[in-house]
Amino acid sequence: KHRIIIAVDGFSSCGKSTFAKAIAARLGYIFIDTGAMYRAVTLYALEHGAIRSGIVDEEAVVKLLDRISITFRFNPERGASDIYVNGDLVEGKIRTIEVSNCVSRVSAIPEVRRKLVAMQQEMGRRRGVVMDGRDIGTVVFPDAELKLFMTADTAVRACRRYKELTGKGMSVTMEEVERNIRERDKADMSRAVSPLRQADDAIVLDNSHMSVDEQMAWFMNEFQLKM
Ligand code: C5P
Repeated sequence: KHRIIIAVDGFSSCGKSTFAKAIAARLGYIFIDTGAMYRAVTLYALEHGAIRSGIVDEEAVVKLLDRISITFRFNPERGASDIYVNGDLVEGKIRTIEVSNCVSRVSAIPEVRRKLVAMQQEMGRRRGVVMDGRDIGTVVFPDAELKLFMTADTAVRACRRYKELTGKGMSVTMEEVERNIRERDKADMSRAVSPLRQADDAIVLDNSHMSVDEQMAWFMNEFQLKM
């Protein structure tokens, strides 16, 4: 059977990962969360002095890059892969508001993108992957057979992310979450290297008022049209 690459790009906190993971489970494909990779580099930079008081020292981040080895290992309980940095499981540490507040500055560094994009291309070499991020359909796999661009109302997104974070016991306010989403969208769209933008051949999905089941029904229809 012919296996393809499905690129899922879009704004922050639109449920890209949730949806991409569900698609991968449905099709028996591998799900790759590229945001987790940028977050893992950011966490490492925070823990190794390359980010202090929220200020990102770009040169220091670039110097750390050779010391960062990112790997994924499938976790059957989550039905997705956990991310490891130099063999340490960091899955539970990369979604804090501290990491979220710095990740867009780290992901704008060209050397960081070069390293992670090369890894992502290697992971998709045999096709059969659903990859979610910001530049998958435009830069990582411009030849992806199916490209989705996800969006939702900012208030809906903030509410979802707030529930997710507080549900994990993190203490954040709705204002903080909404500010972070707006700032990341703006930074991700306006950076010089691989800015977030919709690929010309992407299909837009606004899921503000859709359940995951409804999104899946929509997706299977699009998928069958392609195959
Ligand atoms: O997807 P997630 O919100 O976890 O991504 C975190 C950040 O990583 C984004 O705000 C963006 O700055 C960066 N990112 C990126 N390119 C990707 C995936 C994520 O620049 N392909």
